[in-house]
Amino acid sequence: MDIYKITGGATLQGEAPISGAKNAALPLIVASLLAEGETVLTNVPNLQDVRTMIKVVQCLGAQTDFDTDANVLKIRVAALTNAEVPYDLVKTMRASVYVMGPLLARAGEADVSLPGGCAIGERPIDIHLSGFEAMGATIELEHGYIKARAERLSGGRFVMRNVSVGATANLLMGAVLADGETVLENCAKEPDIVDLGRFLVKMGATIEGLGTDRIIVQGVPKLSAVTYRVMPDRIEAGTYLLAGAITRGSVKIVRAEPDHIGALIQMLGEMGFAIETGSDWVSIAPGDRALSGAFIRTLPYPGFPTDLQAPMMSLMTTAPGISVIIETIFENRFTHVGELRRMGADITTEGNVAIIKGQERLSSATIMMSDLRAGAALVLAALAAQGTTEIRRIYHSDRGYEKLTEKLLGLGADIKREAGGKL
Ligand code: EPZ
Repeated sequence: MDIYKITGGATLQGEAPISGAKNAALPLIVASLLAEGETVLTNVPNLQDVRTMIKVVQCLGAQTDFDTDANVLKIRVAALTNAEVPYDLVKTMRASVYVMGPLLARAGEADVSLPGGCAIGERPIDIHLSGFEAMGATIELEHGYIKARAERLSGGRFVMRNVSVGATANLLMGAVLADGETVLENCAKEPDIVDLGRFLVKMGATIEGLGTDRIIVQGVPKLSAVTYRVMPDRIEAGTYLLAGAITRGSVKIVRAEPDHIGALIQMLGEMGFAIETGSDWVSIAPGDRALSGAFIRTLPYPGFPTDLQAPMMSLMTTAPGISVIIETIFENRFTHVGELRRMGADITTEGNVAIIKGQERLSSATIMMSDLRAGAALVLAALAAQGTTEIRRIYHSDRGYEKLTEKLLGLGADIKREAGGKL
């Protein structure tokens, strides 16, 4: 198992190019199943999760060609030759359940393993399933598999009991070929959903309300395969801004979408950092006043994103004063706290509330990643810690950060990736 060895203290300087968004690419790959022909996706990040999703669509009969140097993914779909996604794939990546929408829409059936638990929370998919029932599907659970059937999805009206990115994506993909009008309420407004919607519209779908909490879809008989560019990854973008902040450096993220990280940019400005933005770039540098702590509550978009909560907490451990985080999206998303404490961070948690008292410096330690974004938080902390930190189980960060070592080296970080470390 590979490890990172990071020696802290360098003030990061320079530019970080942002890759395509993991959480937009995953539904786009699945949505290609909705049309016969060859879909071409560009700016697709070469990530573990993307390679897993490619396996999922291959398992359903698609042929794929991923040019990882050019970040171009071609997906050729004829008839869907299989409607089952095995446990081994779903347990690797829960976003595999996105295939339910296209399978029900095109094949009238979907046998998908019910995702198991996850480090950050129970993450049920009841909203996905209730939504498909509202669109005329029958849902049964047999031996750990969801057996969904629908002669043809009919339009329907469905209010999501909780804002859910995945359920909004899944139901949207089912609705575009359903018979009649579908009204989805309390939808996720995340840019990833807007990107998916724009892709579906380019394929010939009729969708109103993308980016709002009410999406209205008029089902169409057929969609066409198209070419589409994946939007920039807002979470990767925020992570590199936070890397600049925690090392008190001057970092510019390029090929980004500043509008997608407004909550983070505002928070960093309030903490005292100097932020500048352009059409596709954001720069951060030390400000002309003392830094202070911050108060964040994670919320659905456009609120502060839960996926930047852990990396932000790392910054807070070194920001003077008291900071508070309230995590409202997932019930167990403080898995990074114990590891940060081992580096000298002063963090107290009570349920989904974390109180952080900023320290002058963190100290290096041997630590391990527990999930993707907690892993990013540990990398940031190591960049600011005194000494050399060894980080284990870094396969977690391979899921969502393309060329992490290369990009950090490009900013002047002292990071080495070594094979054969301990688990
Ligand atoms: C997506 O997960 C993202 N993953 C997550 O990013 C992100 O943290 C999350 O949205 C919130 O923004 C992808 O896009 C692949 P949800 P998703 O459905 O769709 C509950 C990362 O690090 N819920 O919006 O699974 C759920 O338990 C990952 O890139 C139900 O109760 O999140 C959670 O508490 C981590 N029933 C809340 O809603 C359901 O049927 C929000 O979950 C569905 C969700």
